[in-house]
Amino acid sequence: MPTTIPVLKGKNPLLPGTGFLRNPFEFTIKQTQLMGDFFMMPFLTRKIFIITNHEVVAHILQKNQKNYVKSPAYRQLRLALGTGLVTSEGEFWRKQRRLVQPAFYKTQLEDLFRGMTVVAGKYIAELEEKSASSEPLDIAKEMMAATARIVLKTLFSTENTADINEMYRVMMDAQDYLTYRTVKPYFIPLTYVNGKHRKFKKDIAWFDGYIYKLIAERRNDLNPPNDLLTMLLSSKDEETGEAMSDRALRDEAVTLFAAGHETSATMLSWALWLLSQHPEVVQKMRDEIAEVLEGPTGAGPTGAGRMPGFGDLRKLSYTMQVIQEVMRLYPPGFAIGRQPIAEDEILGVKIPTNGIMFISIAAMHRDPRYWERPTEFYPEHFIPETEKTRPKLAYMPFGAGPRMCIGNHFALMEMQLLLALLVRQFDFEAVEGHPVEAEPLITLKPKYGIMMRVKPAVNKVLAK
Ligand code: HEM
Repeated sequence: MPTTIPVLKGKNPLLPGTGFLRNPFEFTIKQTQLMGDFFMMPFLTRKIFIITNHEVVAHILQKNQKNYVKSPAYRQLRLALGTGLVTSEGEFWRKQRRLVQPAFYKTQLEDLFRGMTVVAGKYIAELEEKSASSEPLDIAKEMMAATARIVLKTLFSTENTADINEMYRVMMDAQDYLTYRTVKPYFIPLTYVNGKHRKFKKDIAWFDGYIYKLIAERRNDLNPPNDLLTMLLSSKDEETGEAMSDRALRDEAVTLFAAGHETSATMLSWALWLLSQHPEVVQKMRDEIAEVLEGPTGAGPTGAGRMPGFGDLRKLSYTMQVIQEVMRLYPPGFAIGRQPIAEDEILGVKIPTNGIMFISIAAMHRDPRYWERPTEFYPEHFIPETEKTRPKLAYMPFGAGPRMCIGNHFALMEMQLLLALLVRQFDFEAVEGHPVEAEPLITLKPKYGIMMRVKPAVNKVLAK
């Protein structure tokens, strides 16, 4: 028996959710509180279903996931990413996932972590130099550059600054261009005449040439470095024994680069901004870092101590709680979009094939049924005993089901490493009057960046 679902109403019955188009992050958080955890919003001839209900999420991403493909917004990404894990579907995706997965096994992560610490150490030294001038820095840009360098080192063992800068520039420009095409599809024809598309194609051709050269060199390397590219090259399908073609390698490598740095960078930017308003959390982190990494505690200059090793990560448990709490309030992947292949019925509601399923991770993470302080920054939400009391899907920054983020452990260790080093070494002070606003594009970015003064850290004696 079909049941009815709450329907969003507005002045324009064909398009009642203009707020959704402007800012789906804020819109879904607000409307979920008013409309409930499963409601529908007409969108011209289509229906958008806004979802935070766990049963519905489990149906789409787990139980009946074979009936759902990624929503149309992902199609634009294919122009740059080709058919890598983020953009592929069906049997091809399954085969690729099996081939890429071993690159993220724990033993491999341990090796990758060593590369990460080298790059992170160099980055911290550079930031120390920059912080000597009291000019504020855009922390969002800083974090993007730091995580891009980490992912390029772990992917290709590249530390050549000129190459890194150019790859980074191409990816940023490509992303701006593709976001523009996704957000303003009616301007797409114009991009073919105003030179934007030509520039994009030229950039991607450069990028491809660079990666194909790396692949060719690596195939002939008798002593290859232990990075993600070597892992991808040596991976063979268990059933057929087949390895990846150069094209598939290129697509997976570009996908890992694109998916793997902006997400972690936005998380770190939000973290530093939230921490600048919570000195008590900073102090607790510093105490933990000092204890685990043998640096000084108490009042006085901080920043001393050794680099973390892989085994230290599990001991930096409060730092991990902070990271989880930042991703609760500002999940870098703030939503998951899917479209059904065949008609479906969920909780008695008919889902047509042109329906768009919009799972708002951001709204799920602020659901007052599961969080003691839904809108506050409160790392204690992630104390292990508290965590056990929550349903699994109440928190899903990395998605859920078979298409869950392949880089989740990679990301967590990278963020733990960088955040611990940054907090140990520096004080971050937000520049007063600079607007900080979340802009939901491909990731949940700070719209105007985050301007901060970076100074050598001094432990403050906090009033109890
Ligand atoms: C804070 C960091 C990160 C967050 C919050 C995040 C979030 C997500 C989410 C929510 C998805 C699922 C999308 C969907 O189901 O539609 C996803 C998929 C994916 N992520 Fe991440 N991610 C992060 C870091 C990384 C890193 C570091 C890498 C690689 C080095 C990576 C690679 C991927 C790939 C390849 C997929 C597609 C997986 C598939 O469909 O098989 N991500 N990520």
